Amino acid sequence: MATDVHRPVTPQAVHVERLTRSFDGRAVIDDLRLDVRPGEFVALLGRSGCGKSTLLRILAGLDRDIEGTVLVPRRKAVAFQAPRLMPWKKVWRNVLLGLPGKPERAVAEQALDEVGLGHRSDAWPKTLSGGEAQRASLARALVREPDLLLLDEPFGALDALTRIKAQRLVGELWQRRGCAVLLVTHDVEEAVLLADRVLVMDGGVIAHEQRVGLERPRDITDPRFAALRAGLLERLGVEATAAEAA
Ligand SMILES: Nc1ncnc2c1ncn2[C@@H]1O[C@H](COP(=O)(O)OP(=O)(O)O)[C@@H](O)[C@H]1O
Ligand SMILES: [Mg+2]
Repeated sequence: MATDVHRPVTPQAVHVERLTRSFDGRAVIDDLRLDVRPGEFVALLGRSGCGKSTLLRILAGLDRDIEGTVLVPRRKAVAFQAPRLMPWKKVWRNVLLGLPGKPERAVAEQALDEVGLGHRSDAWPKTLSGGEAQRASLARALVREPDLLLLDEPFGALDALTRIKAQRLVGELWQRRGCAVLLVTHDVEEAVLLADRVLVMDGGVIAHEQRVGLERPRDITDPRFAALRAGLLERLGVEATAAEAA
């Protein structure tokens, strides 16, 4: 097969090489490499304290005290487990917070509509439920029209039912927007449900990766789903129960 040397290399949404981040002389991230394709949905698993949030903050540009190469799109947005809404600003103003220029209220309302929260635009943050606050936080990410959406355990504090709805919403937003997503989660099922590829972080690097080739929407009762979940649990050092492995 002929190769065309003039063909531009497909730019990655994320390109990380030889990344090291130390705290007090201890390398939490240690010579890590990572590539994420444009439009790819990647989930990042790993035991607590292994450096997932540290990596996400670096990709978000919130931590620049690093060694190595980190290439990310200019348009990126991040949402954390805590929605971090300013209590003295109405929901729509929170959505626009930190945007350059003087964006119109309509910009916020469109994003709020997209997450099913258009009717709460004028509300005060303290009157929102946990699920609503998390959706407001997602709207705040969406108004940035990100090419890369970084999510750090965004559903971690939600009750089971709200969590399922929020997961579905993120899946829909991703399909509609076509942005790359990097989702940090501790929930293996959530990772297999949403991602094209699941990464396991350990020892300061991406120690394992698993492609999820299942068609969407995914069926958690599919034996292939259970097999992927069991394999990842094993990688995480968690023994799958007999019921899960079946
Ligand atoms: N600003 C900081 N100063 C010192 N240590 C930190 C700082 N941020 C993170 N760490 C340490 O780095 C390690 C990884 O933290 P973190 O990335 O939050 O883990 P994870 O999100 O995977 O649970 C932990 O040991 C944590 O204590
Ligand atoms: Mg974390």
